[in-house]
This record gives sequence, structure tokens and C-alpha cells, in this order.
Amino acid sequence: MDGGCQLNEILDKRELCPNITMFRISSPELVRRAEAGQFVILRAYEHSERIPMSIGGLDPANGILTVVVMEVGRSSAEIVRMKVGERFMDVVGPLGVPTHMKDFGGTCVVVGGGVGIPPILPIAIALKVHGNKVIGIIGARSKDLLIYENELGGVCDRLLVTTDDGTEGIKGFVTTALQQLVDAGENVKFVMAVGPVIMMKNVAKLTQPHGIETWVSLNPIMVDGTGMCGGCRVSIGGKSKFACVDGPDFDAHKVDFDELIQRQAMYKTQEKIAYDTYLEKCKIGLGRA
Ligand SMILES: Cc1cc2nc3c(=O)[nH]c(=O)nc-3n(C[C@H](O)[C@H](O)[C@H](O)COP(=O)(O)OP(=O)(O)OC[C@H]3O[C@@H](n4cnc5c(N)ncnc54)[C@H](O)[C@@H]3O)c2cc1C
Ligand code: FES
Repeated sequence: MDGGCQLNEILDKRELCPNITMFRISSPELVRRAEAGQFVILRAYEHSERIPMSIGGLDPANGILTVVVMEVGRSSAEIVRMKVGERFMDVVGPLGVPTHMKDFGGTCVVVGGGVGIPPILPIAIALKVHGNKVIGIIGARSKDLLIYENELGGVCDRLLVTTDDGTEGIKGFVTTALQQLVDAGENVKFVMAVGPVIMMKNVAKLTQPHGIETWVSLNPIMVDGTGMCGGCRVSIGGKSKFACVDGPDFDAHKVDFDELIQRQAMYKTQEKIAYDTYLEKCKIGLGRA
């Protein structure tokens, strides 16, 4: 491989804010084929679980994939503890259907919250390539939790920032900024939202009465990522779909968000036990701390 790096090697790792870490991984073949809106499945070590992660950046010239990981449980904790120079056991992808792209003939708004912010960067870039005016809206609880501000600022025609506590940008949620844009008469033709389910649900609620085409990237629990296990089943317009092969993008106005929220919480007790056990092992030197 170029420059002596190996497949799936971590070339760079940076904590973007507390609990959220960015990894740049050597994966030339995957990056060459990947498109905005797709995801990968990562496995840290041989006995690790496989977990889905959005594509948070593509650098085909150097064969580098960016993913941004929030530590929420056992497997993400294990990944966050990996070091530069280590190799992932697997980086599988690109998976899922790319975000549909065209010239929408008006303003496109990309909305991101938390670890949903990085995947809107490749989407914003692709929308620009298709000749659209792109406005970005990113939100976090407070200023110190905002990520990708410079990256998105460099791509979008305009970037609006919101914080729940008003420490930066507009005080409120991403929907506060989106509502302001619509009220100001911006000719919004397409909205793409990625982030917590409740955020995507509220974006959908806001745009529906205005008839604005709106898509969301769903993040149900996934197991195999191949459409075989049924773990990632979501209801879209009353029909069952599998987010790993039919999505992860879906028409926001057809998504049953309440069912998704329920299904995401199904294994909370088991997940907490696995996380606590892993952190305990790290403390006594048995985990990869
Ligand atoms: C298509 C897709 C793209 C994703 N992209 C990213 C990303 O770019 N960055 C990132 O940090 N995470 C992303 N996720 C979520 C990530 O896969 C989960 O956080 C991870 O699998 C949790 O594993 P764990 O063992 O660390 O925690 P677990 O012990 O499995 O779970 C801990 C907590 O996280 C919640 N959780 C578990 N799986 C998910 C999920 N799929 N979505 C939301 N909450 C979940 C659980 O309900 C629980 O509260 C994505 C998920 C999907 C389906
Ligand atoms: S993760 Fe198994 S069907 Fe989608």
C-alpha cells in the first residue's frame, strides 16, 4: 500500500469533543467505491462485535475513510481505545443505498445533530457537485460539543449553528434554525437530516406541512448488515423495510419514528451489563484500555 500503511490501519485519531472520536482509516478500495449516505461495518478485533458507522469523510486520492465514533457501549468503547497504527479486523462496505442526488432546483438544507453531523459533510459535498445551493444546520447541547464546524463551513453556502444553551449561534434546536429559514422565505426544496431519532422526527414534522421533500438516515440496531437477520427492520409508509439494504435513507414523512425509538431501546439492560463489565475489565487491566 502507498506510504507503507496497511489495509484498515488507523492513520490518525482525534478526540473532537468529550466522548466523540474521529478516526482516519486506510481503506483505498472501499473509499473508491463509496458514495455519500452509505455506511460501513467495523469490527475492532477478532472477538469484537460488528457495529455500523456512517461515512464521515472520503478521501479517494489518499484512500482514506473517516468515521466518527461516539462511545455509548461496549463495542464503541473498544474502538475508541484503539491506537494509531493498529488495524481494524474488518472494515466492511460501502453498505446501503447512497443518498439520492440531483439538482433540486432550489435550496437544499443538510441538518445534523451529534454524530449525525459528520455524515452530512459528504452529502453536502455531493449536493454541491450536483449544482445545488446548500445550507447546513448543525446543533449540539452547548458550544464545546459542536463538531465539524470548519469542515461544513468550507463546503456549505451558509452554515447555521444552534446550541440548546445559546453558548454559540442560535439558541435552540436545529429545528429552530430550519423554521427561521422557512419563515424567511428561503426556497427550500430538499432537506436531509441525520442525528438522534427525536431530532429527525421533529424535522419531518416541520417540513411536512410545507411539502418539502425530506429524507432521514435511520440508525436502528443492526446485526449482520446484509438483510438476513431482520434486526434493523423499520416501518416506512406501513411497510417493513430493512435499513441496512433498503436504507439507511428513507422518506422522512413515511417513517414510523415511534416504533424506531421503541426498537432501539429493546436491549438496554443487556447493553448496560456488557458496557459495565468491559469498563471493569479495563480498570483491572484485562480489557484494551
Ligand atoms: C447506519 C448506521 C450508522 C451509524 N453511524 C454512526 C456513527 O457515525 N457514529 C456513531 O457513533 N454511531 C453510529 N451509529 C450507531 C452505532 O452503530 C451504535 O452506537 C453502536 O452500534 C453501539 O454499540 P455499542 O456496543 O458501543 O453500544 P450498545 O451496548 O450496543 O448500545 C449502547 C447504547 O446505544 C444505543 N444504540 C445501540 N445501537 C444503536 C444504534 N444503531 N443507533 C442509536 N443508538 C444505538 C443503545 O440503545 C444503548 O442505549 C450508526 C448506526 C447505524 C445503524
Ligand atoms: S442488520 Fe440484519 S437485516 Fe439489516
